[in-house]
Amino acid sequence: MKRVAIYPGSFDPITNGHLDVIERASRLFDEVIVAIAQNLDKHPLFTIPERRLQVEKATSHLKNIVVDDFPGLLVNYALEKKACALIRGLRAVSDFEFEFQMALMNRQMCPEVETLFLMPKDTYSYLSSRIIKEIARLGGDISAFVPEHVRREVMARHAVNS
Ligand code: PNS
Repeated sequence: MKRVAIYPGSFDPITNGHLDVIERASRLFDEVIVAIAQNLDKHPLFTIPERRLQVEKATSHLKNIVVDDFPGLLVNYALEKKACALIRGLRAVSDFEFEFQMALMNRQMCPEVETLFLMPKDTYSYLSSRIIKEIARLGGDISAFVPEHVRREVMARHAVNS
């Protein structure tokens, strides 16, 4: 049977750190669904269709990646997709408390789906979508942190908004 994992998140936008985790997960599972959560943030920089396209382009070199979005509870989506695992990236100790709480809550609701933590390459351990958006908004260079097509879209969005 095909082993499917879900890598959920906001991906607003996808970063090189996310991409590193996706590449690691793609080597471990038959299929990895990168699943963008709907209705998380009332003011995302990018719409769900925009984020889906960004992730699709960034992962086009990988054969076993599916990009999707989901409403409601992650565990319900995982059951619907017959996934055996949820993947989360762990960057630093500061991530741990929230991730631990989420993993145990998801396990409480859905014991058959396991949460797996993957550590991104150490050079990406300080990356976050929020910080990248802030740097871009303040005119900094984000080219080392996101794929080139994402960099262009982030910069274009800030040029329009400012
Ligand atoms: O990239 P993020 O913002 O850290 O991702 C958080 C995400 C999307 C994984 C989390 O908020 C989530 O699972 N949302 C779906 C709603 C849900 O299931 N909430 C209960 C989690 S215990």
